[in-house]
Amino acid sequence: MAVLVTGGAGYIGSVAVVHLLTAGQTVVVLDNLSTGHCGALSEGAVFVEGDIRDKQRVARVLVDHAIDTVMHFAAQSIVSESCRDPGKYFDNNVVGAHTVLQAMAEAGVRAFILSSTAAVYGHPEAIPITEDMPTRPLNPYGLSKRMVEQMLEWYDRVHGIRYVSLRYFNAAGASGRFGEAHDPETHLIPNILMAVEGKRPSVTVFGTDYDTPDGTCIRDYVHVVDLADAHLKAMAWLTAGDASGIFNLGNATGNSVREVLEAVRRVTGQGFRIEYGERRAGDADRLVASSQRAQDVLGWCPRHGDIDAIVRDAWRWRQAHPHAYNPA
Ligand code: UFG
Repeated sequence: MAVLVTGGAGYIGSVAVVHLLTAGQTVVVLDNLSTGHCGALSEGAVFVEGDIRDKQRVARVLVDHAIDTVMHFAAQSIVSESCRDPGKYFDNNVVGAHTVLQAMAEAGVRAFILSSTAAVYGHPEAIPITEDMPTRPLNPYGLSKRMVEQMLEWYDRVHGIRYVSLRYFNAAGASGRFGEAHDPETHLIPNILMAVEGKRPSVTVFGTDYDTPDGTCIRDYVHVVDLADAHLKAMAWLTAGDASGIFNLGNATGNSVREVLEAVRRVTGQGFRIEYGERRAGDADRLVASSQRAQDVLGWCPRHGDIDAIVRDAWRWRQAHPHAYNPA
């Protein structure tokens, strides 16, 4: 009995691996290290370097390690990149997930947990967003995740693979020696912290004319530790034999870009240069989750929702790892 974590050398996957090991699980990580980092691997987990689109490799891992649950983190996740290069997203995210599902069906592995995204909703029809609201993704990234959710319905029906799809809102924060290190970095909190560190000259606020109280976009920042915890709860749910389901993961409280800038100033005690730019394509005014379903059904309770606490953990990690996962 073991858990396969695809993308276990990535930001959220690496933290989930630690939680699984702490819970006494046997863990196998499959990662092609295209965006993941060797330094984000945990010693207690078996590491297999490989691509999720290599069906023979995936099938081999499932059988050799007696896998009974797959946590599927491996994916591309930059919205702007997906608009420039949609094929990369359909290939890695859709074909990749489908290859894993085919191998699971053949090997008789019956539990799958998907890293999905709030980007499936597009411009939401109301706030907070509930799981039964329409999905109208605005970009190939969100569409690719929605396509995987749709495939999962059929793999459940036909092959008995039960699944939990976890729709993350804005993952942030850090845990122990694991943190957020993308190249290029596009996310708000690391971008502001890079301005504090002098690694970039300034941070640009993308748009100040949104329909929000201070004119900047509101997002629901959720701590990576809370996301990892949700994966363990989802696994327990599937192990107990319960039905497949889709769950939002957020804090139900949004923070505007200006509020996040203020939080960084409070936490770091340092100033930095801010520029005000145009809107970024595809940004919705507000994305705030209702996570009531995850709380009621999975018993998930986010414990690190405070924006200052999230920024503090991200800042501590950056200070302790000034070169992120790269050699000094
Ligand atoms: N922003 C800036 N300046 C920056 C970076 C971001 O003003 O330098 C703004 C964005 O315009 C947005 C907010 O900060 O309003 C948050 O942007 P992020 O890039 O940090 O996150 P997104 O909301 O765009 O995207 C994140 C994930 C996606 C996911 C989405 C769903 O990265 O994978 O949340 O909510 F789809």
